[in-house]
Amino acid sequence: MSQPETKPFDYLIHNVHVATMASTDDYGVVKDACVGVKSGVIQFIGTQQQLSHPNELDKNADSVINAHGQWLTPGLIDCHTHLVYGGNRANEFEMRLNGADYEEIAKAGGGILSTVRATRAASEQELFDSATKRLKSLLKEGLTTIEIKSGYGLDTETEIKMLKVAKRLGKEFPVRVATTFLGAHALPPEYKDRSDDYIDLVCNEMLPTIAELKLADAVDAFCENIGFSYQQTQKVFATAKQLGLPVKLHAEQLSDQSGAGLAADYHALSADHLEYLSQNSIEKMAKSGTVAVLLPGAFYFLRETKLPPIQALRDAKVPMAIATDSNPGTSPAESILLMLNMGCTFFRMTPLETLQGVTINAAKALGLDQEVGSIEVGKKADMVLWDIEHPNQLSYQLGGSNWARTFKS
Ligand code: NIG
Ligand code: FE
Repeated sequence: MSQPETKPFDYLIHNVHVATMASTDDYGVVKDACVGVKSGVIQFIGTQQQLSHPNELDKNADSVINAHGQWLTPGLIDCHTHLVYGGNRANEFEMRLNGADYEEIAKAGGGILSTVRATRAASEQELFDSATKRLKSLLKEGLTTIEIKSGYGLDTETEIKMLKVAKRLGKEFPVRVATTFLGAHALPPEYKDRSDDYIDLVCNEMLPTIAELKLADAVDAFCENIGFSYQQTQKVFATAKQLGLPVKLHAEQLSDQSGAGLAADYHALSADHLEYLSQNSIEKMAKSGTVAVLLPGAFYFLRETKLPPIQALRDAKVPMAIATDSNPGTSPAESILLMLNMGCTFFRMTPLETLQGVTINAAKALGLDQEVGSIEVGKKADMVLWDIEHPNQLSYQLGGSNWARTFKS
């Protein structure tokens, strides 16, 4: 009996325009291309003539997909979210519109702490169900990787509960989930006026337990007047380093605390928000290769007026990413494409920069750029097909989606 012939690819996409995002200067366009995938890995990007069987497409792959001239980009990556939480904060949104501001609400026990109460009270299943709704919206826009932080538990048990829910989302949906432990997000009520004691709990109990359970890929903190100090953040980073976990930081969102510079000293994957970022910290970020994660949803929702120093980041060649920061307090966002548009309109980023911000640079912000973030031979086949005429349409559109199909490795 003759062996069935093994074909070079599991599937072949043909008649497709590709924005590989493999170059820093442009979209890396390959027009009228074919892309071949085997075992979830990209094996071929080229013209039909370069295939082993250019005139009999069926002989190249088990499945042949005609893209009819649509565009293929890397799967989108949301590299900063707080997707798992209990309740919502529409009431505080209303309070702010009646005159209160974010810091006042936080100081009065609202803000992050009201979400902490709701998250502690919710069961794992309830958290999973509410996060599922939000995740589904993002998946409809071609998301293939998402970072999800803890930080609304602020006790060991609830932080673990949140991270388990995040991991479960990655098992039950076609999405890669990177988890981040954000124990140092806010001071829980039971530690009122004892923030150093809480940081000791984070460093001596929470972090070692979470590292042992392998529940976190990275460690984050909120370095801010209403969060934790430079010294406290440093303590968290030093502990993460001992445990072999990479760090990232909510830095310079409401004031300059030199947090991004500290993050760079610890070779952080990213420093995020950055409206109040100083030139000194920019230089440190450039040296350490720390990605600037910009969060236009939070900028918009808080009606912030101070812009992150985009031109200075550009000049220093700090890679820039864009993310939803999806969270109940400052960015109840469920659309990554809307963030691209806001990155252009508010931050004056270019459409190319915003697409890099949710592909290759977002992958860097998660330490995953060897695996995903661009369409290149050897990388995972996380790709999205769009019904567009050019990739600049992805940031141009205000609401709606031209998503056609996701390929997930
Ligand atoms: O990324 N800045 C701190 N953390 C969140 C907000 C959390 C909240 O208000 O619930 C942020 O903006
Ligand atoms: Fe955040």
